[in-house]
Amino acid sequence: MPTISTILAYLRYLNKSGTRHSVHSPFVYTLVDEVLKNNKPDEAFQRIRHLRNTLLNKTQQIEITDFGSGAMEKKYVFRFESVAKIVKKGSVSEKYGKVLFHLVQHFKPQTIIELGSSVGISTLYMALAKPDAKVYTIEGCTTKSEQASSNFRKLAANNIVQHIGRFDVVLPDLLPQVEKLDFAFVDGNHIYKATVSYFETLLKIAHNDTVFVFDDIHWSGGMEKAWNEICDNEQVTVSIDLFRMGIIFLNKQLSKQKFVIRF
Ligand SMILES: C[S@@+](CC[C@H](N)C(=O)[O-])C[C@H]1O[C@@H](n2cnc3c(N)ncnc32)[C@H](O)[C@@H]1O
Repeated sequence: MPTISTILAYLRYLNKSGTRHSVHSPFVYTLVDEVLKNNKPDEAFQRIRHLRNTLLNKTQQIEITDFGSGAMEKKYVFRFESVAKIVKKGSVSEKYGKVLFHLVQHFKPQTIIELGSSVGISTLYMALAKPDAKVYTIEGCTTKSEQASSNFRKLAANNIVQHIGRFDVVLPDLLPQVEKLDFAFVDGNHIYKATVSYFETLLKIAHNDTVFVFDDIHWSGGMEKAWNEICDNEQVTVSIDLFRMGIIFLNKQLSKQKFVIRF
């Protein structure tokens, strides 16, 4: 059930957003055409859809560690949840999974970091888009990570490296191993302070062509604040608000501009 603040955020988005024809940046115009409007079928979509449908029928209850939003401030809660519910509530939809897939095919990153694997649906969209890329994915909940591991095996996605632990604990150890970050998907612990801090940490290994994707940018007042602060960061040039997700570019050849695209 969307909250009043999400509904208001959506109305503001509708009011501000434009179509591809209102975009005067060749870079963003091409991105809309080749990524957002890309309807080319790919056999990976069929495989992920089949996996998702299987998981949506999985009534098996697993004990999960609920990080919720604000794991840095709260104690964790342990509880049982069905795999079906985890997927239904938290996994990326097919529409936005395809955005991740086409972004990866378009920008061809070699190294991808994901914060928040859950049972691995979004990880699979990125990993199958470019099997020679390496996808590092972090998940705090061990049982979800185990489920993800089994899903990666089912779809023969061999380019994924899983890390289990809290983002703020795992990331500092991971950075020296990764060295150069080409693509990041931040989808966990949706609170202001944490989101900005993950961005600042990831920036340390980013470069001119690194692409960042943030999920749930209008999910709460805190996430809106984090998104606006990230867009205003001096290293950021172009930002694209798709409402559910936000995309960030650091490319210095582009002039600083904020786009809100109807998607
Ligand atoms: C929305 S789900 C990720 C969904 C997944 N990206 C997908 O679309 O398939 C967010 C995940 O982040 C994990 N998480 C949240 N806060 C965390 C933290 N501080 N450290 C590690 N994991 C965290 C949760 O356990 C949850 O599985």
